[in-house]
Amino acid sequence: MQPRHFISLLDLTSDEFRGLISRASELKNNKDRDFQPLKGQVLAMIFEKSSTRTRISFEAGMTQFGGHALFLSPRDTQLGRGEPLEDSAKVISSMVDCIMLRTYSHDMVTTFAKYSSVPVINGLTELLHPCQLLADMQAYFEHRGDIAGKTVTWVGDGNNMCHSYINAARVLNFKLNIACPEGYLPNQAIVDDAGDRICMFNSAEEAAENSDLIVTDVWASMGQEEEQKKREIAFKNYQVTESTMNAANNDALFMHCLPAHRGEEVSAEVIDGPQSVVFDAAENRLHAQKALLEFLLC
Ligand code: CP
Ligand code: NVA
Repeated sequence: MQPRHFISLLDLTSDEFRGLISRASELKNNKDRDFQPLKGQVLAMIFEKSSTRTRISFEAGMTQFGGHALFLSPRDTQLGRGEPLEDSAKVISSMVDCIMLRTYSHDMVTTFAKYSSVPVINGLTELLHPCQLLADMQAYFEHRGDIAGKTVTWVGDGNNMCHSYINAARVLNFKLNIACPEGYLPNQAIVDDAGDRICMFNSAEEAAENSDLIVTDVWASMGQEEEQKKREIAFKNYQVTESTMNAANNDALFMHCLPAHRGEEVSAEVIDGPQSVVFDAAENRLHAQKALLEFLLC
């Protein structure tokens, strides 16, 4: 039997997503370090790209749960020397209890999952970043309650985070306004599959009207560093500023998965201002991932 993987938010039912959020909040408030449901279990973490939050939260989460996390970089394993993914997935999964991958190609994670005998977690690909959405949604629920029926506005690049917000809108049933410059729109198939929950805009301020949450991300993601200058020009009208926040509802929150570039995708006033919950969401990466590991492994 195939193990249960977490590659996309669409792998979860709406009840499961809400269950993970409430379990994550419960774990956040449970300071009992003797609760070790993953004692003796091992998580292998394969990182093709840099990470602060994802690496530390998975590693700390496994340790707190009584298990262990292994950091593996393709540079130091045979993956970087061309060992077939299929073989690597079979071998690694025969020795550990769970595998998390952060890769460029999304296909690499789905192929790995196909040949893995243990659960595979997507720790970010060029297409999706579902773990971040568990933490963001936990932060929203903690500050404002259920997000069903609310309006979220995405400003900026139609990237892996934007795609994950589209999928979250489907599973948790909220409206998503998207304002992206031409040439940087999200994947059309992902948008189409979400139906009329998604509305596209040309202006961040128009999109933000009546919104309960404003979200953005870097203009150039990992692997796009050489496009930075070109993107600065394309995205110059897509910075989240106080005027974007003023267009939204008075109690709107601001989120960003981090790392952020103040003065590019978001002004310092907004990210460091009273509506920003970016550091709550960042801390929630730990609690949400512990809830996810427990869900997949216990
Ligand atoms: N938000 C996020 O995934 O951060 P890291 O790249 O630091 O893991
Ligand atoms: N879109 C960003 C998210 C980083 C957490 C990237 O892929 O680099």
